[in-house]
Amino acid sequence: MLIPTPPTDLAHYIGNADEFPILGACDFFNHAGVSPLPRRGGEALRRFADQYERRAYLDSGFYRQVEDLRRSAAALINAGPDEIAFVKNTSEGIATVAAGLDWRAGDRIVTTAVEYPANMYPWMDVAKRHGVELVTVPEITRDDGSRVVPLKDILAAADHWRTRLVAVSHVEYASGQRHGLAAVGQFCRDRQILFCVDAIQSMGVLPLDVRAMNIDFLSADGHKWLLGPEGAGVFFCRRELLPTLRPLSIGWLNVINDQDYGHYDLTLKPDARRFECGTHNMPGLLALKASVDMLSAIGTPAIAARLKHLTDHAIAGLTAKGYPIISPRQSDEWSGILSFTSPTHDHQQIWRTLRTQHNTELALREGRLRISAHLYNTDEQIDRLIDHLPGHS
Ligand SMILES: Cc1ncc(COP(=O)(O)O)c(C=O)c1O
Repeated sequence: MLIPTPPTDLAHYIGNADEFPILGACDFFNHAGVSPLPRRGGEALRRFADQYERRAYLDSGFYRQVEDLRRSAAALINAGPDEIAFVKNTSEGIATVAAGLDWRAGDRIVTTAVEYPANMYPWMDVAKRHGVELVTVPEITRDDGSRVVPLKDILAAADHWRTRLVAVSHVEYASGQRHGLAAVGQFCRDRQILFCVDAIQSMGVLPLDVRAMNIDFLSADGHKWLLGPEGAGVFFCRRELLPTLRPLSIGWLNVINDQDYGHYDLTLKPDARRFECGTHNMPGLLALKASVDMLSAIGTPAIAARLKHLTDHAIAGLTAKGYPIISPRQSDEWSGILSFTSPTHDHQQIWRTLRTQHNTELALREGRLRISAHLYNTDEQIDRLIDHLPGHS
């Protein structure tokens, strides 16, 4: 039975199939891909469908809940609610920045060479259309086999008088490297360079503080670590920059008099709601609210510690079985993503066997195997996964 208010004690959720029904179906380790809904998210969708069928929006409280979510999502990253817009995905938030700034030929954008395409194509498009220079900093392999884009290389690339913007993922989707956002953000702010972060691989489970990290723009859909459905996410724009960023699309909702339909006045709202052009993905946001409320009740520090435990546990088993780890594990670089390889076995074959014969779901990214466990996964599930992997003689 679900307790109506999400418990704050993380232990309550571990291995709890009432809270996470997927536990009864498979061993799921692909939260860096698309996450299962917790029961609370599913309940929100069922309640939405029930209400919508019988009463439409009447007495629904839907709109109040969306504003509650704006506040709780803001709190997760230490932003103000006035700095949060709802978007349909990470890409839309990044595209808002790419399309909304006033680019000049010769401007420079710096990113890494290993970004997920959502954080690459918008900048390639800006480069093509505006004569902007796009600099992509390559990944290197360290002596211990881990793959990283060194902080010093990002800063060296950004250290140029024409650099307008640095765009990185907080956590890289393939290597799992967590970038030192505070260092990059400070560097950028000192030089009036804009700093844009793709946070879909960290928001809700790793500490993120837009103020302390000097982040200007941040975007994250809900369908990974935030445990929401696809198609409902958040975009942060630093308050001082709101007037300088043109909305991606203009409709009836961006404006100050959004309820005064007959009197057209194209004055944009003063806050980040100026980026919302029309009605919201209501079921998506309600389900996202349910999971954000749960994650907020537990708290990011406890969740981060849990992910550290689970990834350390997996590393111990993988290493004992001869699988080299690709993800960096330094205290400021680890994340919930664990990529590893086999020196001899075919990765595709391992992935398929796990899925079809052992009911175990992980991912293949850039030719490597990737585990991404969430707070509710158990040590026993990880032990089972390791048992199912072929050994190396
Ligand atoms: C770093 C990163 N950004 C963005 C996305 C997805 O983008 P969107 O939310 O626009 O679908 C992914 C999905 O794998 C990702 O790993």
